[in-house]
Amino acid sequence: MTSFRYQNHELYCEDTRLADLIATFGSPLYVYSRKAIIENCSAIEAAFEGHPHRTTYAVKANANVHLLRLIAEQDLGADVGSKGELFLALNAGFSPDSISFSGVGKRDDEIEYALAEDIYAFNVESKQELEVINTIASRLGKTARILLRLNLDIDAGTHAYISTGQKHNKFGISSRKAVEVLRWAQNLQSVEIRGIHSHIGSQILSQRAFVEAAHALERVVGELRSNNIPVHEVDFGGGFGIRYHGVLTHPRLPAETPESESVPVAEFVRTVLPVLRKTGCAVAIQPGRSIVGDAGALLTTVLYRKEQEGKNFVIIDGGMNDLIRPSLYQAHHQIVPVQLSNTIVEQADVVGPCCESGDFFAQDRLLPSVSRGDVLAVLCAGAYGYVLSSNYNSRLRPAEVLVDGSRITLIRRRETLEYLLS
Ligand code: LLP
Repeated sequence: MTSFRYQNHELYCEDTRLADLIATFGSPLYVYSRKAIIENCSAIEAAFEGHPHRTTYAVKANANVHLLRLIAEQDLGADVGSKGELFLALNAGFSPDSISFSGVGKRDDEIEYALAEDIYAFNVESKQELEVINTIASRLGKTARILLRLNLDIDAGTHAYISTGQKHNKFGISSRKAVEVLRWAQNLQSVEIRGIHSHIGSQILSQRAFVEAAHALERVVGELRSNNIPVHEVDFGGGFGIRYHGVLTHPRLPAETPESESVPVAEFVRTVLPVLRKTGCAVAIQPGRSIVGDAGALLTTVLYRKEQEGKNFVIIDGGMNDLIRPSLYQAHHQIVPVQLSNTIVEQADVVGPCCESGDFFAQDRLLPSVSRGDVLAVLCAGAYGYVLSSNYNSRLRPAEVLVDGSRITLIRRRETLEYLLS
């Protein structure tokens, strides 16, 4: 549920007027709603209707430690993809036995750290990785719990860069090899097999792809059981898509047609759960975007406008270094003024200041006419926003604030020039 809404032509996050935030914290600025994050977590938890499960938040979606703390307080676990993410998750209060470690390229020191901290399990991507984990675990006198990540060869119908479950992708082991690899792994002294895992991609809007994945996993569990290989858990991964089009409507905003298939994450869970339940296993999921995506917006200020060869450009102070999704995936984010003072609608490219033609937030977009100094909100920027930011063009990363009703907490300071010297 988004917590961004208009009241008297003014955009609010919960009870906080967004125009006021820029005056206090500067621009550009990431803003998050506490309430939206809590509601997203509880909607997912409710969808399991008491079935044994683990929901591990995919830290890569947004790793701000204050947001991690909030998510840990909702009793979720964490899925981490690096030593840094594990460090943050532990610091945020996630209990080690609620943490899984995913990723195709875990370094030895990362494996050692995770074993020393006694995390719940590794989602393992190759036979060689299993060997390395076994060797390190036996050296440390530990047992590594593992789930084997399977490549189910399913087309998730999402952008090629965030599709992970097809056979040409680098992720997982072909599901045809599950029995062979896990039978071999049963002989590894310091490895305990917990189950199987898949993650077929991100921003998936197709129920069909998820259901297909659930059936494929169910089949593999059957094969493993008939080969006397124990399976206690199926980790279904993340990837539940959210709505980016037409999130806000208002008579002064040009209408945007919402994604045809978009459904709330709880619906996805309700759809796949009956299939996964048939395995008799505990179920885990690793949502990232569906917890933080719609809870955040990037506020940015209009610097200039210009008209060139019949085309309007709105030049803003946020760039591809602050939010790279439109440049990298041609991703659509709804862009709305925080004050809807203008009734005129125009078509424009909304572009950043970086020295790249790919530095755009929207192309040929209909939006209310804006002027220098106006503040725009780039919606649904809570996931894969700040985490993918950079110092390109030696630009400083923005500040982040968390809104709780009318209370505002600065949860990350804006970078300063000194940072560039460190
Ligand atoms: N589990 C694993 C193993 C993952 O690799 C990911 C995301 C997730 C869970 C969480 O997926 P989610 O529920 O957030 O879709 N930067 C791209 C998205 C990359 C996703 C990477 N893996 C974007 O901005 O769309």
